[in-house]
Amino acid sequence: MAKQESFAFATRAESAASGRRARHEAKAPPRTKRPPKQPRGRTSAVELAKKQRDISISEFFAKNRHLLGFDNPSKALLTTVKEGVDNSLDACEDGGILPDVRVEIKQISETRFRVSIEDNGPGIVRAQVPKIFGSLLYGSKFHRLRQSRGQQGIGISAAGMYGLMTTGKPIAITTRTGPKRDAHHFELVIDTKKNAPKVKRDDVIEWDKEQGTRVEIELEGAYRGGQHSVDAYIRQISLANPHAQITYVPPKAEEHGAEHVFPRVSDEVPAETAEIKPHPYGVELGVLMQMFRDTKARNLRSCLQIDFSRVSPRTATEICSRAKVPPSRRPGEISREQAERVHQAIQATKIMAPPTDCIAPIGEELIETALRAEVRADFYASATRRPAIYRGNPFLVEVGLAYGGDLSGDDPVTVYRYANRVPLQYQQGACAITKAVIGTDWKSYQMQQSRGGPPVGPMLIMVHIASVWVPFTSESKEAIAHYPEIIKEIRLGLQECGRRVATHIRKRKREAEEAKKLAYIEKYIPQVAVGLEHILGLTERERNTVVTRLSDVLERSRKM
Ligand SMILES: Nc1ncnc2c1ncn2[C@@H]1O[C@H](COP(=O)(O)OP(=O)(O)OP(=O)(O)O)[C@@H](O)[C@H]1O
Ligand SMILES: [Mg+2]
Repeated sequence: MAKQESFAFATRAESAASGRRARHEAKAPPRTKRPPKQPRGRTSAVELAKKQRDISISEFFAKNRHLLGFDNPSKALLTTVKEGVDNSLDACEDGGILPDVRVEIKQISETRFRVSIEDNGPGIVRAQVPKIFGSLLYGSKFHRLRQSRGQQGIGISAAGMYGLMTTGKPIAITTRTGPKRDAHHFELVIDTKKNAPKVKRDDVIEWDKEQGTRVEIELEGAYRGGQHSVDAYIRQISLANPHAQITYVPPKAEEHGAEHVFPRVSDEVPAETAEIKPHPYGVELGVLMQMFRDTKARNLRSCLQIDFSRVSPRTATEICSRAKVPPSRRPGEISREQAERVHQAIQATKIMAPPTDCIAPIGEELIETALRAEVRADFYASATRRPAIYRGNPFLVEVGLAYGGDLSGDDPVTVYRYANRVPLQYQQGACAITKAVIGTDWKSYQMQQSRGGPPVGPMLIMVHIASVWVPFTSESKEAIAHYPEIIKEIRLGLQECGRRVATHIRKRKREAEEAKKLAYIEKYIPQVAVGLEHILGLTERERNTVVTRLSDVLERSRKM
């Protein structure tokens, strides 16, 4: 019996590896007492251990390049441009400079392009250049809670890595931090095994630019039109960044003489945003415990005050007493149970909303100006909501809307999605913005809408979410995660604009109906005059006077 059991076990184990062999052996009778042999092709734990090793982040992303937005040639071209432009705009904003960005795409062969992005930003200190461009997860934005386009420290080095993998060419960087400083030119590649840079060239060069950075990447790509194109990106980014001047030279521009300049609409650099500490609402228990371990504060009360935003001494004391943990307790000695009680006490305590100066909205006025520049419509509306919080992070939603005019009326409305002023062009279906647009009842705003679908009509909707940390669904930063707080705010913004567009549509409908009625009356005025002529025996002159008078009355009512 015992033998049979062990046989049965061996068969079962093998069947996982090879179904066919397992079936064959299952039919054969048990032959010997030999212990079950290790099946061929199997590895022991010891052998496995030899193969187990660190995976460098760049090896990981080189294999999973789709996670970073390099899953096909046309998307790769867009992502490369986007990473470069996002960085340029961020750098200019950090330096309080009005951005002047030049994007040039040269087509080298059927499938090969050379992208260059040049800015007038603060430049990059020489020693930092290799790390920034030659290793993934290196940057200035990840560890701070502050609104910026980039946040992960992967963007530009990933684009460089993609270029290297597909063309073997290094990434080239020219940068200068001021007119009295040298301009440095680097060419470098990323060593994916080590996630470290290998510098191929490091020279001081003559550069006519006083300050700024130019990044050049050669890559396998495809230049296509449409909603996902680089052209659409450039147009949309200039829409959400009216303070930036963007010059765009598409492939084959020499042939077509096309250098597109998207001029600056506003001369104000967006308000400088402050870096903030996390707000206590929504901080997860594990994060809270980690903060207790890492804090420089001596006791719980001061930890709550120093490491979080909006916690006053009174609020801190209130949290401690509600959690029944002494305020003087050393944070490092707080037990898991106590931390859990503090976590619950935070949720139960009334705490002021996070500071709003950490978020720079585009603003209702500029959104409308930008929309007017984009489309000729009959009606425009915009709404900037007050900041709200998801998982302890402040965020803010803005909605812009254009209706009628040149917009086409038979298709689902166009939705432009933005996060921290960057257009999102892919993964529309997975995005919280799409969910909120679909979840809004547009029928009550005089629009057509089928169940579970977007509204249909001559409308363009622009939704912007600004946050100190935008919760993207993946590293390629294409769609916003479905946090209920975010969806709610987007919906409220859409409703605000929806109400205004509904008033406009109703007014237009009323006007159209009245015009129809007036036209009808106008048609019958001569008949009325003829009737009166017969009944009252009017002369022809009197009859004409009736027509003139009635027409006057009608005309006056039209003007009212
Ligand atoms: N044009 C530039 N001018 C000045 N500094 C730059 C420029 N481009 C990049 N940097 C610096 O290099 C860092 C790394 O850039 P990278 O694009 O890899 O990551 P990120 O922008 O921080 O985040 P993300 O991965 O979300 O884009 C930035 O944080 C910034 O400090
Ligand atoms: Mg970046």
